[in-house]
Amino acid sequence: MSSREIPGQLITERDPAAATTEAAERIATALIEALATRGRATLALSGGNTPRAAYATLARRAGVDWSRVDVYWVDERAVPPDDDRSNYRWAKATLLDAAPIAPEHVHRMPADAPDLESAARSYEKVVREGVPVDVDGVSAFDVMVLGVGDDGHTASLFPGDRTIDVTDRSVIAVGAQRGLEARLTFTRTVIQHARVVLVLVVGAHKRAALARAWSREGDIHETPSRLVRDCKGQVLWIADEPAAATA
Ligand code: 6PG
Repeated sequence: MSSREIPGQLITERDPAAATTEAAERIATALIEALATRGRATLALSGGNTPRAAYATLARRAGVDWSRVDVYWVDERAVPPDDDRSNYRWAKATLLDAAPIAPEHVHRMPADAPDLESAARSYEKVVREGVPVDVDGVSAFDVMVLGVGDDGHTASLFPGDRTIDVTDRSVIAVGAQRGLEARLTFTRTVIQHARVVLVLVVGAHKRAALARAWSREGDIHETPSRLVRDCKGQVLWIADEPAAATA
């Protein structure tokens, strides 16, 4: 009997294509609901490979008034915005260039800046100015898309890193580590205050990380994606069968 205790709703799809379609539809629905409720919507995107197809599908989804949506990033690598490793580059190729989103509503995370700490502070200001705060005074994104690494990280909050413990900031710099470039990332605080968090995970190689994220007991320092367990908003896990299977 697995000691799974999945925080939020789990939608399991038969394969990556079905998970992609479902993710795009859920993002669109959450945006449309935010637009109807609050008149505007804020969307924060994660990078990596998994969400690219969902972003491309989302761009083609009718019914989203993109003129009232502002796009931000959950994290970004310290590379130029046209670099193949850039989360912005791929969001631009899949979503921004395909949906009618005006440049002034695109808020790129400047992780290519020479001083990452001051870049973090400047993006905190961008978020503070652009994203309405909730009752706790924290900028509350309407929709936030997350992924999970096969090591259990989410955003750029990595296992064994003290960045998971930072709660008095919204954006921080993450030093180069484990062969990865330096990054900027949202902290758990911003992530946990998003109104709708959609976690898209596909592939058998993610199964063990998901099992750790979903187990009743676990260490957030070992599996930072466990931070989703304390999200205040609605959490939707969308996974294909290989990823969601009981380990
Ligand atoms: C990043 C992402 C990161 C991603 C996971 C999963 O910049 O790498 O924001 O948090 O969601 O690493 O990445 P894949 O989808 O490529 O497995």
